[in-house]
Amino acid sequence: MAKVMMIASGKGGTGKSTVAVFMASELALSGSKTLLIELDAGLRSVDVISGTGRQAVYDISDVLKGRCDPRKATLTSPHTDNLHIIAAPYKSSDTDFTGFKRLTDSLYEDYDYILIDTAAGLADAFYAACEAATLGVIVATADVISVRDGRLVSDEMYDAGLRDIRLIINKFSRDNFKYSGFEDLDRIIDGVCARLLGVIPASAAISKCAINGSLLAPLSPERQIFRAICRRIQGQDVQIII
Ligand SMILES: Nc1ncnc2c1ncn2[C@@H]1O[C@H](COP(=O)(O)OP(=O)(O)OP(=O)(O)O)[C@@H](O)[C@H]1O
Ligand SMILES: [Mg+2]
Repeated sequence: MAKVMMIASGKGGTGKSTVAVFMASELALSGSKTLLIELDAGLRSVDVISGTGRQAVYDISDVLKGRCDPRKATLTSPHTDNLHIIAAPYKSSDTDFTGFKRLTDSLYEDYDYILIDTAAGLADAFYAACEAATLGVIVATADVISVRDGRLVSDEMYDAGLRDIRLIINKFSRDNFKYSGFEDLDRIIDGVCARLLGVIPASAAISKCAINGSLLAPLSPERQIFRAICRRIQGQDVQIII
């Protein structure tokens, strides 16, 4: 049965889609059959970041509206056959998410992991993802606004029944941390009220690979950080690298 996890943030642009794609790629490359569904209607990006390009004819809205079978809307990553993607609608749409949990339930046996990349904030897609997921991953940056919004998301996830809520601090820079408004990372973890899953640096390699739809170099420090995050998700006790 697949482990279903949602990736969310309060503030937009914290790096949810980028982190979701690199996490999904890493899980898939480690041998796990992985599906990544993007629920950000009208702001599709996972197709580009994952390198599946503009192949998407059908999207998650078509599946939920019964216009096509989920398999027909599923794209395969050019990097590994173990990673499948269902894109968000290209244009903003009036998607009704009530059948979303039924959809992920119907895909349970086909995958080891199902990742749901949500839109920023607390819209319908967020609550649909909360219903479907058992693990909530909040992606926040080290600033007071992102952390305050992250706490709202963490509280909503908890109220929606999620009991495993983790935090990824993204775009981290030691040099800029002094301007973050926080004394140390523990204040951020306490602020969001979620267990730390990883700290990802602000990195030119990450933004370059996200634009090109390519994989991070196998021996790069960024790749090691994503590998460690995935091992933690897989239940291994791996030290957090900062
Ligand atoms: N660790 C990182 N280092 C450098 N750039 C990053 C990093 N993570 C994300 N980015 C860049 O930040 C921008 C926003 O990333 P992304 O689209 O993944 O955010 P998002 O949270 O999914 O946004 P939205 O709220 O619009 O869905 C992109 O240009 C991406 O390449
Ligand atoms: Mg996004």
